[in-house]
Amino acid sequence: DSAELDVTTPDFIRHPYPGYARARRTASLCRILPNQFLGVSRYHDVVRVLHDSKRFSNSGYTASRATQQQNLDIMPPNLVELDPPRHGKLRGLIVRALSPRSVAEFEPWLRKIADGLLESLHGASEFELLSTLAIPLPMIVIVEMLGVGTERRDEFRRWVDDFAAAHAIGSTLKREQLQRSTQAFCHYFSAQLEERRREPREDLLSQLVHAEVDGERVTAEELLSVVTALLIGGNETTTSLIANALVTLTDHPDQLAEVQENPALIPAFIEEVLRFESPAHIVFRQTTTDVELDGVTIPRGAMVLPMLASANRDERQFPDPDRFDIHRDTKGHVAFGLDIHFCPGSALARLEARVMLDALLSRAKNLRRPEREVAWAPSFFLRTPQKLVLCAQIA
Ligand code: HEM
Repeated sequence: DSAELDVTTPDFIRHPYPGYARARRTASLCRILPNQFLGVSRYHDVVRVLHDSKRFSNSGYTASRATQQQNLDIMPPNLVELDPPRHGKLRGLIVRALSPRSVAEFEPWLRKIADGLLESLHGASEFELLSTLAIPLPMIVIVEMLGVGTERRDEFRRWVDDFAAAHAIGSTLKREQLQRSTQAFCHYFSAQLEERRREPREDLLSQLVHAEVDGERVTAEELLSVVTALLIGGNETTTSLIANALVTLTDHPDQLAEVQENPALIPAFIEEVLRFESPAHIVFRQTTTDVELDGVTIPRGAMVLPMLASANRDERQFPDPDRFDIHRDTKGHVAFGLDIHFCPGSALARLEARVMLDALLSRAKNLRRPEREVAWAPSFFLRTPQKLVLCAQIA
């Protein structure tokens, strides 16, 4: 007996958590409609799958796009879709640059960017969060780290939007549009990398292009797979975290007052947002062999989706999981994944969210959301408002 979960209905998009709860109660696997992928809903199963990269391959990303109506299997190469041993070699190129110690040094720089963005809202009584703060901050950070021009930000945004849309189940993205974005992306970044090869600068692209793995130069395609992963991984997820933080804060005015009163609570608050409104609701895997999960045999080649957002609401792991509580123990949430693909950008994402929230909350008085209903993006992959209008007096 297995539950079915239709992830395209307006009800599910508005409020997916009752569907996840039903799936967890019914069986360890549920059938995702409309595409028949297998969803893993329970915390301990999600953890098990994430720790078993031998039998649950990240080729799931590539395979899922090929099953879309428009066959969207045209994308720049991406590190997250690779398996060992190639995966580990390339991942090694970025973990140091994104380590907690390295990113801690970015704090003053991030604060300046956040303050600059907030400056443009000075005196406003109403503003739209995504376009003014939540989208620009991560984009500015990643393009400046890579060392490419911030004046191309709108173009980068369009590419990244298209790449993420290719993973929205039941995507309506046109194949031609994805092809155009893929070509433009590869063309632009190949040229940028080539420039750094001739003339190194003080940026991440230059570090990448001159890196060696086991004494060998990294190929152009491998370099692109790292850049793609950074640009896709670092943008919409972080935008979503900042936006979801404001959704939950405005839904819980008592906790908003508490956090605003005591900014030292912001890190704990962010962890609870990551658990309660996880930006990435699912990750993609594909079985490399027949594999048994809680007595059910999954055939080789099956598409399996560990549902991080369901695991983070599993009552066996987090008591009273649907209650948002900044004082709860959030240890063990899986919003950044686990094991070999664990998000290398987690320290940066947490820092960006903390700095932005700190800057906003210290300047915003009477912060509230005028409309109860949130315009959630129609995506099963990424949980984020498309727009979020807020009222406040910004000093
Ligand atoms: C991987 C979530 C921010 C770069 C992942 C994975 C998750 C995740 C769940 C694992 C994917 C899998 O197992 O298949 C998030 C969330 C973020 C965030 C929720 C923000 C709140 C960032 C940032 C960067 C980044 C800021 C970079 C600047 C990456 C990369 C990978 C990854 C490169 C692939 C790692 C690998 O395959 O080894 N992220 N991420 N992420 N993330 Fe993040």
